[in-house]
Amino acid sequence: MKSHPSATALLLLAAQALITPTGGIPNCPYPGPAFPKPRSLASSDAIKTAIANLTTTFNARGTDPAANPNSTSWSIQVFSASDADEDTPLWSHYHTATDLLTANTPGVKSVDGDTVYRLGSVTKIFTILTFLIEAGDTYWNTPVTQWVPELELLAGKAQYDPVMNVEWETITLQDLASHLAGIVRDYAIEGELTQENNQTVLEAKGFPPAPRNETPTCGEMIKCPRAEFFTGLSNVPPSFSPSWTAGYSNMGYQILSYALEAITQKQFAPMLQSDIIDKLELQHTFYQKPDDDSLGVIPEGHEDDWSYSIGEASPTGNMYSSASDLSRLGRAIFRHTLLAPAQTRRWLKPTALTSDIHEGVSSPWGIRRIPLSDGSRVVDAYSKAGSINVYMSLLVLLPDYDVGISALLAGGWPGNANWDIADNIGRALLPALEDAAREEADANYAGIYTAAGDADLNSTLVLSTDAARPGLGVDRWVSNGTDMIPVAVRYTLNYNVTAPSIRIYPTGLESAAAADGTRKIAFKAVVENLDLTDHSSAMFSTNCGTWVSQTAAVYADMPLDQFVFTLGEDGRAVSVTPLALRTALLRNS
Ligand SMILES: *[C@@H]1O[C@H](CO)[C@@H](O)[C@H](O)[C@H]1NC(C)=O
Ligand SMILES: *[C@@H]1O[C@H](CO)[C@@H](O)[C@H](O)[C@H]1NC(C)=O
Ligand SMILES: *[C@@H]1O[C@H](CO)[C@@H](O)[C@H](O)[C@H]1NC(C)=O
Ligand SMILES: *[C@@H]1O[C@H](CO)[C@@H](O)[C@H](O)[C@H]1NC(C)=O
Ligand SMILES: *[C@@H]1O[C@H](CO)[C@@H](O)[C@H](O)[C@H]1NC(C)=O
Ligand SMILES: *[C@@H]1O[C@H](CO)[C@@H](O)[C@H](O)[C@H]1NC(C)=O
Repeated sequence: MKSHPSATALLLLAAQALITPTGGIPNCPYPGPAFPKPRSLASSDAIKTAIANLTTTFNARGTDPAANPNSTSWSIQVFSASDADEDTPLWSHYHTATDLLTANTPGVKSVDGDTVYRLGSVTKIFTILTFLIEAGDTYWNTPVTQWVPELELLAGKAQYDPVMNVEWETITLQDLASHLAGIVRDYAIEGELTQENNQTVLEAKGFPPAPRNETPTCGEMIKCPRAEFFTGLSNVPPSFSPSWTAGYSNMGYQILSYALEAITQKQFAPMLQSDIIDKLELQHTFYQKPDDDSLGVIPEGHEDDWSYSIGEASPTGNMYSSASDLSRLGRAIFRHTLLAPAQTRRWLKPTALTSDIHEGVSSPWGIRRIPLSDGSRVVDAYSKAGSINVYMSLLVLLPDYDVGISALLAGGWPGNANWDIADNIGRALLPALEDAAREEADANYAGIYTAAGDADLNSTLVLSTDAARPGLGVDRWVSNGTDMIPVAVRYTLNYNVTAPSIRIYPTGLESAAAADGTRKIAFKAVVENLDLTDHSSAMFSTNCGTWVSQTAAVYADMPLDQFVFTLGEDGRAVSVTPLALRTALLRNS
């Protein structure tokens, strides 16, 4: 039926000014947010419902034996860049283990947003951020040997064997930051059996006597100073060729801190302190254990787990912080307080893929690709988890909404507790965030725009949102008496289309407010045909490659698919100019 659409179909289309897409393929938006980032979350009904759900869900968790609530404490927040103040996150939940009440330790008896926990590997976010603030990312592709003389010496070893020696001169700083260096996970501080076990027992289990010159003399009990760390490292073979695959390495972050010290000629810890902790006034965040133990949650019998420092390996996992401070950090990332907008966005992009089809990796983020339950699009979450001794942590950023999750745990948590918390928050929160963003976009942009009276042009643009589709839909587009929808289809897709759809998406292009309080914001259209052959089970063909066709048609330098709105002080659109058509259309109030 749809195999030979004709010029008649095109004419029919022209007559039928309102588009009602009927094709079988879902819309294919640009990757990234489908709507402007929502700014009034606290007053959204969808968010209020989600928050009530979270409170019920997490109160129940406090009595669920599977969550080990009697010996585990947790502090959890959902925060947003639009939170009115730093102390009032969108949602918070604190649970104190009953065991803590009777614990004879110097720590708190009741946890809240300010309680200090250990972060483990969430520290890596602070390390990368310190690097980016101090040195930017222009050094990212330089070889590590340029900055770390001990590795330059190793690289110059005469007896280089590609199987047994790390090819340090081919490893870049970016490789270290995004776990692509192919180096081992840790040196001696974790996983070195000779550090953790009685030698007689190990030999009885089948290991040969350990060669004295290849056995670390430092690591867990005696922390390795920098010199011993590099001397020891010269014995250790690589795991993979550089840039072969993602292979997590804590050690890479220790080396990265040395590289930053060489670049800046400054000490790492004071840089982290002044660039992040002092700048954001994180009063419950510490690189080493705080002097005041009463700030922390310290389960009975775990004073050493609280106070143990990992020494030179600290940039990879030693830090201490509170849920409120992690939320503050997350807001600062979204608000570009510490890094410029473009650099922040570059930071929040993947570097490599993993074996999990929904998972990517960058520095230090794990990237989760989450299909929304309505099937309209994919939301990318940037997360870093950590665990050290009895502590567990997680920071999740959802850049599409400028919303995040901070979760800290202490005690006898079950293994997957931090991710399980995110799973439980996400299933209620994500659909609500998309709904809230859609509702705000509807209120701020949807409606009828027409040419101003004196121009006497028959020009109209009608925009709406649809609960099952991403972005704002172009329902009607008339320019000076001509239906522009078939025209846009003709010049963009260049073939006969039976189910056209035009929807517009945020571009990040936004001007500062003018003297009268108005500002401009640009949207980009996707012009597509929803009546294509379904390629969802094809190997190479795809249903969703629209990003390739942006700006396919330009009229006298101005893109046919670009729409620039003028917003009033209240954030509501007052007019729109389809750039190629050069006439502002006023929003009917
Ligand atoms: C579009 O339709 C016209 C008229 O039927 C036909 O001549 C043309 O080949 C079609 N183009 C494509 C790409 O199918
Ligand atoms: C926690 O402890 C209380 C009182 O000691 C006990 O009644 C309850 O069953 C325990 N809950 C769980 C989940 O173990
Ligand atoms: C190691 O284990 C053996 C056998 O159990 C024991 O005799 C020895 O004392 C242990 N050595 C140390 C240092 O603990
Ligand atoms: C919370 O929302 C999720 C996702 O919609 C749902 O599965 C769950 O049953 C809800 N829980 C409560 C307590 O309402
Ligand atoms: C509108 O259409 C009229 C009639 O075709 C034409 O003369 C005029 O130039 C057009 N105006 C604009 C602004 O496109
Ligand atoms: C404006 O143009 C559209 C599309 O060509 C047409 O359907 C409509 O009748 C026109 N309206 C007026 C008032 O001329």
